[in-house]
Amino acid sequence: MSARKIIIDTDPGQDDAVAILLALASPEDLDVLGITAVAGNVPLDLTSKNALIVCELAGKVDVPVYAGCDRPMARELVTAEHVHGKSGLDGPNLPDPEMTLSDGHAVDFIIETLRKEDPRTVTLCPLGPLTNIATAFQRAPDVIERVQQIVLMGGAYFEVGNITPTAEFNIYVDPQAADIVFKSGIDIVVIPLDVTHKALVTQPRNDAFRALGNAAGIAVAEMTDFFERFDKEKYGSTGAPLHDPCVTAYLIKPELFSGRHINVEIETQSPLTMGMTVADWWGVTDRPPNATFIGDVDSDGFFALLTDRLGRL
Ligand code: RIB
Ligand code: CA
Repeated sequence: MSARKIIIDTDPGQDDAVAILLALASPEDLDVLGITAVAGNVPLDLTSKNALIVCELAGKVDVPVYAGCDRPMARELVTAEHVHGKSGLDGPNLPDPEMTLSDGHAVDFIIETLRKEDPRTVTLCPLGPLTNIATAFQRAPDVIERVQQIVLMGGAYFEVGNITPTAEFNIYVDPQAADIVFKSGIDIVVIPLDVTHKALVTQPRNDAFRALGNAAGIAVAEMTDFFERFDKEKYGSTGAPLHDPCVTAYLIKPELFSGRHINVEIETQSPLTMGMTVADWWGVTDRPPNATFIGDVDSDGFFALLTDRLGRL
């Protein structure tokens, strides 16, 4: 079976970086047509630069990287340096990139790629706020039906919020964009905090990254050593939650994950619950299902896959 064509839309972020490394280490499974950066964890100039850094760390300098939207569709940008550090990739000491950004805007790349590739052969993999994706759908509605699937990291139900009491960061930063995506009618798989909080980099797992001995393995160990502080302090977690790599792992081995096809709607009005993913997990409404909402993961299987693939780089 040929590799699945994907576009990774991202706001690196240490966990984004690991997701990108896993994708680039898996060419038999995933054909990364391009990486599009969006403002999120840190401002766009840093997320764009960090995407280049990660491609070079993977030794994949031919992957086109585009800068996208530098702010949400309607709200002020909220960033997460308190989690990811000032650079967005705090932890390892990685060199500035020699790679440069590809010319053109990320949104134009998404539109042009969806129009160029055969219909329903490209999967969009958003790992940050959905601004680039929703802007592409607004600017070129014809591309919506050409998307094969969206597999995104965002939202929460049982875990509720990580940036407010009710909202997960990616959705909270741009709720209007999320609303457009969730109402698009596209086949959406949601990887929420409910499952990513079960993918924790415990010390033995971090040791396994470091024991790979290659630049990627050591860098991932250093990234997760840094990135775990926030969740350890807030949740008492046993390690850093690998949110975004769950998207890549789902694409490679979906059998590691389980969930339900339910209705998910986005709060875009209430200041109190802005950005909440209202997931009808228990089917208490007659709202039509519009997303596969993942609730569980075989975490040992996930880390075995991730460690094996990082060892290839
Ligand atoms: O809430 C976690 C998500 O927000 C992850 O994608 C992380 O990288 C940040 O973007
Ligand atoms: Ca992210």
